[in-house]
Amino acid sequence: MRPVRTALIGCGKVGSIHATALRELAESEFAAVCDSDGARAAAFAERFGVRPFSDPAEMFRQAGVEAVLVCTPHPLHAAPVLAAARAGVHALVEKPLAANLADCDAMLAAARAAGTKLGVVSQRRLYEPVLRMKAAIDAGKIGRPVLGVFSMFSWRDEAYYRSDPWRGKWSTEGGGVLVNQSPHQLDLLRWFMGEIEELSGYWANLNHPTVEVEDTALAMIRFKNGGLGSVVTSLSQRPGIYTKVHVHGASGASVGVETDRGATFVAGVSEIDEPPLNDLWTIPGEEQLLAEFQAEDRARFRTIKPTTHYHALQIRDFLRAVRENRPPLVTGEDGRAVVEMFTAVYRSNRDRRPVRFPLAAEE
Ligand SMILES: NC(=O)c1ccc[n+]([C@@H]2O[C@H](COP(=O)([O-])OP(=O)(O)OC[C@H]3O[C@@H](n4cnc5c(N)ncnc54)[C@H](O)[C@@H]3O)[C@@H](O)[C@H]2O)c1
Repeated sequence: MRPVRTALIGCGKVGSIHATALRELAESEFAAVCDSDGARAAAFAERFGVRPFSDPAEMFRQAGVEAVLVCTPHPLHAAPVLAAARAGVHALVEKPLAANLADCDAMLAAARAAGTKLGVVSQRRLYEPVLRMKAAIDAGKIGRPVLGVFSMFSWRDEAYYRSDPWRGKWSTEGGGVLVNQSPHQLDLLRWFMGEIEELSGYWANLNHPTVEVEDTALAMIRFKNGGLGSVVTSLSQRPGIYTKVHVHGASGASVGVETDRGATFVAGVSEIDEPPLNDLWTIPGEEQLLAEFQAEDRARFRTIKPTTHYHALQIRDFLRAVRENRPPLVTGEDGRAVVEMFTAVYRSNRDRRPVRFPLAAEE
């Protein structure tokens, strides 16, 4: 395929993963970067051999960009996406799509009106153990998925929250563990279980007194298919234990993945040092496959750069979606659905009652 002319907005930690992929992928002709901090844009431009900008609209005008990757802090995702849509540029946005539903709706409306594609990063969907679970569920191997469980017992220290001024504050981050670390697994839970009917949630800050936002959240979910779900997500366990998503089917069979061992990696700071693995596989006649899957995934892990590999796969899918004029693997609507899930936890905790889906933006 003819390469897509690409650019990046937000030359920070995850931005370096995106820029590396844009430089290496055959589907990309990397042309420009943009950051409100001119020195950061200049440093990235030098490192990746592209043009620096500090204003997205200017970059779209001057650099002939067809698709942009947005890697700014989450409350600052909407403005560059709206500028991209106005310029007819496709946008793949880092997770979460936004910090609130109003921003999501504005981005979706702008992309729809402009006829541009909008995608959201959820690179764990491309983990082999996750793809195996999805294929088994879709093939009906566990019957109707009736119980979905997402558990994260992870850790972030004070230095992490101090590393950027926007972290840990409601006004500049929009939330805590739900908004920053959990979107990946909230997306997987919904991808496996389907649409949500109702959610009850709680949140608290259990042991991070220097930040405003929640470090722990719980949710109970009723899915439209009649199934149930539970979420326990926390950054309060030092040094971090695991993150898992398990799905139990009406047939009694179960499939599961440990997406992260220990604390989840911090982009640009730490690496993924252990492979994501299926940790549960009780489909009748396939029980022995669990050990084979694990051996296969451990062997592959030694041959890839896991911290960048899955981002690159998703960016490649997005660029191909642009050329093939089809929806990307993870759409803007999927991104809104995750924002809807964490918004429901916040509203349920605030109003002390279950929240019915779908949710509209509040003024
Ligand atoms: N998918 C993943 O695994 C993953 C990992 C890390 C971060 N992220 C997401 O990526 C986003 C960025 O996180 P980060 O850790 O890279 O943050 P960061 O603070 O390291 O980088 C953000 C960059 O955006 C720039 N910026 C801020 N406002 C801007 C604006 N208005 N216009 C242009 N540039 C602007 C900053 O100067 C900075 O260089 C967040 O939404 C985060 O949730 C995703």
